[in-house]
Amino acid sequence: MQINKNDIPDELTLEIEKLSNLGLGIAKLDGYVVFVPNTCPGDVVKVKICKKNKSYANADVIEFVEPSSNRVEPFCKMQKVCGACQLQYIDYEAQLRYKKEIVQDAMRSICSSNIEVRNVVASPIIKEYRHKIQYPIGQTKESRRILAGYYKTGSHELVNIKHCPIQPSECDKIIEYIRENAQKLGISGYNEKSHNGELRHVVIRASRAFNKYLVLLVVNAGKISKKVKQLAENLYSDFDSVCGVGVNINNKKTNLILGEITEFVSGFDFVEENLCDKTFKIGAKTFFQVNPATADNIFRYIKDYIKNNFDKPSILDAYAGITAFGICLSDIASKVVSIEEVEDSVELAKIVAKENDINNIEFHSGDAGQFFSKETLLGRQFQVTILDPPRKGCSVNSLDYALKLTRDKIIYVSCNPATLARDLKYLIEHGAKVEYIQPFDMFPHTYHVESVAIIDLKNVQIPEQKLPY
Ligand SMILES: C[S@@+](CC[C@H](N)C(=O)[O-])C[C@H]1O[C@@H](n2cnc3c(N)ncnc32)[C@H](O)[C@@H]1O
Repeated sequence: MQINKNDIPDELTLEIEKLSNLGLGIAKLDGYVVFVPNTCPGDVVKVKICKKNKSYANADVIEFVEPSSNRVEPFCKMQKVCGACQLQYIDYEAQLRYKKEIVQDAMRSICSSNIEVRNVVASPIIKEYRHKIQYPIGQTKESRRILAGYYKTGSHELVNIKHCPIQPSECDKIIEYIRENAQKLGISGYNEKSHNGELRHVVIRASRAFNKYLVLLVVNAGKISKKVKQLAENLYSDFDSVCGVGVNINNKKTNLILGEITEFVSGFDFVEENLCDKTFKIGAKTFFQVNPATADNIFRYIKDYIKNNFDKPSILDAYAGITAFGICLSDIASKVVSIEEVEDSVELAKIVAKENDINNIEFHSGDAGQFFSKETLLGRQFQVTILDPPRKGCSVNSLDYALKLTRDKIIYVSCNPATLARDLKYLIEHGAKVEYIQPFDMFPHTYHVESVAIIDLKNVQIPEQKLPY
């Protein structure tokens, strides 16, 4: 029988057994779960309970009685204050083992314990790996110093970060330049509470392959001021590595970082990056994988899988972004059809296909669900479908259509084990068989993990559509 929450003392000593999907340490007391942040499996900790619920409690560490052998000194001085690298105090090999368990636990609790989850493929680099950097900007009250960094865990308190070891070091220089020069030019930093201040975010898209950086200054204004234009022009002329600077207008009270309109003040409106021996163009609003080195591993892995199992199949690349899968797979496919809702991404993909003399891709922009519905009516089928949806996963309708549109295999690429497990459960209920899941570490030192699920459709009963689009 599970222990009653009232029997749990306010302070107690526990051993951490595993990590939750959000990277919190989990200890158990006769089935009652205690979540303890900043701990590692194997840690024996004295904790203070801060919140008790019926089946679980949250606690904070008072003392490490016996630290786990998998603990290491974080390489970033800011690790404890900045919320970005939750697991940096854990040895990298151990992080990979815990991430495998996170995927296994998601499958066990939502879907099925019989799914084979393979060992997580390590990231080829574990520092300076990030392609996209987004810093909120603020300003100190008294000295009016411009601040740029990340928010403290679980808060909106801005931590001014001068050096972040998981992003290319050039980004530190670009951001420091923006801090200093925005202040010199009299540009104010944004205040979230009052919705005042001009400069609200800096977004950088970094290219590892070419050591180039596309910079966006996001402003809380109706139009670009002379001062911001000056900052953009100066940044472009003072940094050889900066290939373009744009200003994005976002004067809404919103958590969204980018507004609708971006105007490029200097240089190009895209940066180039290599993936699977192809050079892609990435714009201000286009999705690109966070860690191009791991992305390259994933793309090659999927390409090898398809090459070994099919002879020139037809491929549907759904939730395609800049059609990275479609373009990488085009030479082993008879035909690729791609669907992506962000039009800029589709336009950039078309240019890349043209530059590479790729003629077997049909590009579509729009909502994937609606597109699937249209294709189903046309009676089209593909041997392989790549499904790479955002974190929220696929709708039931989209899964139904994907089953109708695909003859042999769905390859589901997911950055969220929970929604992957939910969607796999649905596919399994309709006769699909998950061959296995291969996780990859796209996000070293965080609790996030990317998974590739290989799904066989031999025994699928095509579901009736529940809601027509
Ligand atoms: C995880 S990203 C994958 C992108 C691409 N496969 C890649 O590897 O670069 C998901 C993509 O789905 C797109 N997307 C989100 N919802 C969509 C929808 N309802 N219909 C079509 N595309 C959508 C996003 O714009 C984004 O480009």
